[in-house]
Amino acid sequence: MAKDFSTMEDSNRSSNPSIHDVSEPSRRMVLRGGLGMAMTGLLAPLGAGALSGCAMPLAAGPLLGFKSVAASVADTVTVPVGYSAQVIAPWGTPVGLLGQDPAFRPDGSNSAADQEVQMGMHHDGIHFFAQGAGQSGLLVMNHEYADDGLLHADGMATWSAEKVRKAQAAHGVSVIEVAQSGGQWQVVRPSRWARRITASTPMAISGPAAGHAMMKTAADPGGRRVLGTLNNCASGITPWGTYLTCEENFIRYFKGPDAPNAHERRWSLLKGEPAGYRWHEHDERFDATRHPNEPNRFGWVVEIDPFDPGSVPVKRTALGRAAHEGATVAVTRDGRAVVYSGEDARFEYIYKFVSRDRIKPGGFRENAQLLDHGTLSVARFDGGGRGQWLPLVQGQGDLTSANGFADQGELLVKTRQASDRVGATKMDRPEWIAVDQQGWVYCALTNNSNRGAAGQPGVDAANPRANNTMGHVIRWKEDGGFEGTNFQWDHFVLAGDPVNTRAEAKGQVNGDAFGAPDGLWVDARGVLWIQTDMSTSAMGKGDMTRLGNNAMLAADPRTGEIRRFLVGPVGCEVTGATATPDGRTLFVNIQHPGETPSERSDPANPRRYSNWPDQQPAGRPRSATVVIRKDDGGLVGT
Ligand code: FEO
Ligand code: CA
Ligand code: CA
Repeated sequence: MAKDFSTMEDSNRSSNPSIHDVSEPSRRMVLRGGLGMAMTGLLAPLGAGALSGCAMPLAAGPLLGFKSVAASVADTVTVPVGYSAQVIAPWGTPVGLLGQDPAFRPDGSNSAADQEVQMGMHHDGIHFFAQGAGQSGLLVMNHEYADDGLLHADGMATWSAEKVRKAQAAHGVSVIEVAQSGGQWQVVRPSRWARRITASTPMAISGPAAGHAMMKTAADPGGRRVLGTLNNCASGITPWGTYLTCEENFIRYFKGPDAPNAHERRWSLLKGEPAGYRWHEHDERFDATRHPNEPNRFGWVVEIDPFDPGSVPVKRTALGRAAHEGATVAVTRDGRAVVYSGEDARFEYIYKFVSRDRIKPGGFRENAQLLDHGTLSVARFDGGGRGQWLPLVQGQGDLTSANGFADQGELLVKTRQASDRVGATKMDRPEWIAVDQQGWVYCALTNNSNRGAAGQPGVDAANPRANNTMGHVIRWKEDGGFEGTNFQWDHFVLAGDPVNTRAEAKGQVNGDAFGAPDGLWVDARGVLWIQTDMSTSAMGKGDMTRLGNNAMLAADPRTGEIRRFLVGPVGCEVTGATATPDGRTLFVNIQHPGETPSERSDPANPRRYSNWPDQQPAGRPRSATVVIRKDDGGLVGT
């Protein structure tokens, strides 16, 4: 689809501020406290750079200066000439709790107790909360899921409560302190901020669904406390200095009910579902035949205060229940918070939450209820490049008790059904969302090979390719500010390889070919970074041969040019990116190197596809964070 970039320069930046633009008032808000006097060293850079890295004005001139990296199938991380990549914090690294430093054992023999104080598996969303001059700070990141074939010495050949506990400990979120010296970054151990949040960590449930009958279980008759967070995929940050992590494919952890009702079927909680993680065999709350409401307590965005290791994470039900992918924050013209989130499943939706109240000066404490009150809406993309946000408010339109939405709590537990009712647009798997300095909001639609198949929705204006194996990036700009209820939209890029002959895989890319966009992030200079995840897509092998391993590309939103910046090791996906406030250090997560099509490795042959990053004769591939710097110390991307 032809793309007209000429309208981008004269953006309505002043009337449509992104999180970048509000860095000044937000900086003051964060600086004015709420985080505690003892953490003074963390405050200044949080305001200056932690808000998506907003320290610098939008760059003038060409954004991309590096020489493009060729596609590759090498088992390594490749970066442009003049750049270096360093691996830190791979799975199993002790996070730095005082006196708890169990070394990683490359044969998978670490205990569950060890794993509870080590980096989890499958790094995903990430953010750097800078400290001092920005050369140290907190890295907070998701651990999306676990590969039991790598996690245990003998994989799943035997199964036990200890293995379930270890798998649960390999999930969740890590908070680590990192620091740079001489261009090399290290994990600081011990650290007062080090923390592991796992699938067993006590958390609070807040917002309209808290305490709802559908949220109550035998272990939690009040419906306000839950253990753990699951399948934490993309992430976001707030102007008050907290981390938002998203619960994506949580359904896979539950054994389905014997006679699923309509609600359970809509969420693919089906009889005979294998619950392949086998947690239910030793942790009965994951057996929905016995605890039918437990799945309702997952699928939320979870807010974490990384500056208080003792804080209780909070599931924010006002943001809706979904297979959440991303929670990207913008700010309205009058200072309220907006959270954009996609739902990564075929024919699911894109959401926007607008808070009722304004962001208060301070930190988490001052804004502890901000994400509990507001309006959730779902996107409808119409023809002619126009769209509308449809409010999901109980009692409005068809969202009535008669239609299964007795109150707002029930509506939020059934967010998908509410979106079906209001006629939202069924998208091609919405993954990460990013907001640029011009107020454009980008969403990666990774692929959807079912688009246009028999009995499935056909193409529409926003999802224009049947058998969409390569995916696309859509973007929109709100009328007025981010609180707007209408928007203009277009396609930023239809991914694919121009040499492909099949129309659906051909793509329209101004630059280097790629497929299956997943991670999106806008840096302080305005570069849109695109990360790919072709590993589980339904692409034809012939279509993707030239694309090589999964990659990270840099796009100039002003010209549409896209250049390949990084190629990951074999079998990985590249997901999650963040930078220091000075823009000279980039952190990128490499997830599941060596993953097999089944997503479970063979413990007898764990290095079959990849041995990254250790490349030791004995060992296992490990998800890790890669630190990328320009050898001359310059801005990353130039
Ligand atoms: Fe966890 Fe949709 O990526
Ligand atoms: Ca993803
Ligand atoms: Ca993906």
